[in-house]
Amino acid sequence: MSAALTDDIDDSVIRLGGHKGLEVELLPFGATIRSIRLFGQELTLNYPDPADYQTDQFYLGATAGRVANRIAKGRFELNGVAYQLDCNNGPNHLHGGVTGFNRREWQVLKQQSDSVQLYLRSADGDQGYPGAVQVWQQFRIVDKQLELSFLALSSKDTVLNLTNHCYFNLNNDKLNDGGSSVENHQLQLTATHYLPTDEHAIPTGERRAVAGTAFDFTNAKLVGPALKQQDQQLALANGFDHCFIWQDADAAELKLMAVLSSSQSGRQLEVLSTQPGLQLYTGNFLAAPFAARQGICLEAQGWPDAINQLGFPGTLLKAGELYQQQIVYKFS
Ligand code: BGC
Repeated sequence: MSAALTDDIDDSVIRLGGHKGLEVELLPFGATIRSIRLFGQELTLNYPDPADYQTDQFYLGATAGRVANRIAKGRFELNGVAYQLDCNNGPNHLHGGVTGFNRREWQVLKQQSDSVQLYLRSADGDQGYPGAVQVWQQFRIVDKQLELSFLALSSKDTVLNLTNHCYFNLNNDKLNDGGSSVENHQLQLTATHYLPTDEHAIPTGERRAVAGTAFDFTNAKLVGPALKQQDQQLALANGFDHCFIWQDADAAELKLMAVLSSSQSGRQLEVLSTQPGLQLYTGNFLAAPFAARQGICLEAQGWPDAINQLGFPGTLLKAGELYQQQIVYKFS
């Protein structure tokens, strides 16, 4: 699996699928999902011009890394060495820093009609992180599902937590008032617990049961009314911006984490992943050219700030060990 062994190919917009109703467009810039259409209906938020992704502030459709989500104060200690990363989100480090994986030109290694493999090499010290990291990300359409497979290797012990940052909106009409918000979407999350956060969106360390709270999505319910419930955690984050956790799941197995649907269009998305957490982000800070709550992110990932939190499942990647994770978006 070496980049040197494969040929570089054209790296403009990559189009996959189409023959079974699911069409996906990707950009090598940020290993970004630019569009997912099912039978012609767009299911994600996107910019019309690929050049607009260069100035995007919302991580629209992008691959977040090296470490998706936050690291408190951008600090951690590994093998007795203290590291200081960029603080690009108030006092914290977010989604890999100022020039995270979302702002990098990934190399197209191999493209077929239904799949593509992208590659990125991140140098030792990149954004302050230890170790030279190589990442291979494959996007593959199988029937009506889009599979994302992440493989990575590091030259030194490091931290890694990769995810995709698609904003979904399954409504037919995303531009008029009735159709624009995801508040009319039904959401089910199979997690029984989530991670409450402080005012800077860093987990407090508590694992809180969802039962009896606005965070209980174990049975499908509407997003809008849940957002309006009285809850100190919702007030702190201006909506849902929290990691739901699967504490006892087998790390190697794909599990069903989320089911999102719109009764307006009848479209449904299932999210499956090998990851132990899923950040539910209700587009609280989306702004022009979009609007708050116009998209919903279901980011399967490791737990936020895990490197600094005792007892959280690790995001540590040992030198020479293979990082392997999968996310599946299944549409109907
Ligand atoms: C985070 C939000 C952040 C957003 C940036 C999400 O993954 O959880 O807090 O504002 O990314 O687009």
